[in-house]
Amino acid sequence: MAKKLVSFTLNGRAHDGAAADNTLLLDYLREGLGLTGTKTACDGGECGACTVLVNGEPRLSCLTLVGQVAGKDVETIESQAKGGKLSPVQEGFHLKLGAQCGGCTPGYIMAAEGLLRGNQSPTVGEIRSAMGANICRCTGYVKIIDAVQHAAAVMRGEEPADYPDVPAAQG
Ligand code: FES
Ligand code: FES
Repeated sequence: MAKKLVSFTLNGRAHDGAAADNTLLLDYLREGLGLTGTKTACDGGECGACTVLVNGEPRLSCLTLVGQVAGKDVETIESQAKGGKLSPVQEGFHLKLGAQCGGCTPGYIMAAEGLLRGNQSPTVGEIRSAMGANICRCTGYVKIIDAVQHAAAVMRGEEPADYPDVPAAQG
């Protein structure tokens, strides 16, 4: 299939490229640009591993065509650490052991980033809801919620606390 020019902002920089009409954003990022921090697992909108931000909102890149992000602002996990310093969300996942095998982690981090930009005091229910498209097979989700709460506290300028009472079950 013939390729068409496409322009968007990628991790804060103008990006001009070319892609066929049926090229998925996930494949374009990973195979076209070598941005393999965005993970692929189910390839069908079931796991959230491929989550990126489009105009600040979490989006499953395995269900998004490159043409759909033309003129938009795309952020991947590679944009998160700056100057060798982890973002608050990355630091939360690191310190609170929110990542085990790590396969789901970039998607969770981007979903959390999307949530916390608009709401730095989310309830546990709001955190769970914001991550409703993401699946983790390792952590039981408790540590992930801890990680997001830790990041939220840091972003509010507060000293992070322990959150021992978060129930394990996720709907
Ligand atoms: Fe996109 Fe699973 S790879 S939702
Ligand atoms: Fe292994 Fe989430 S840390 S799938």
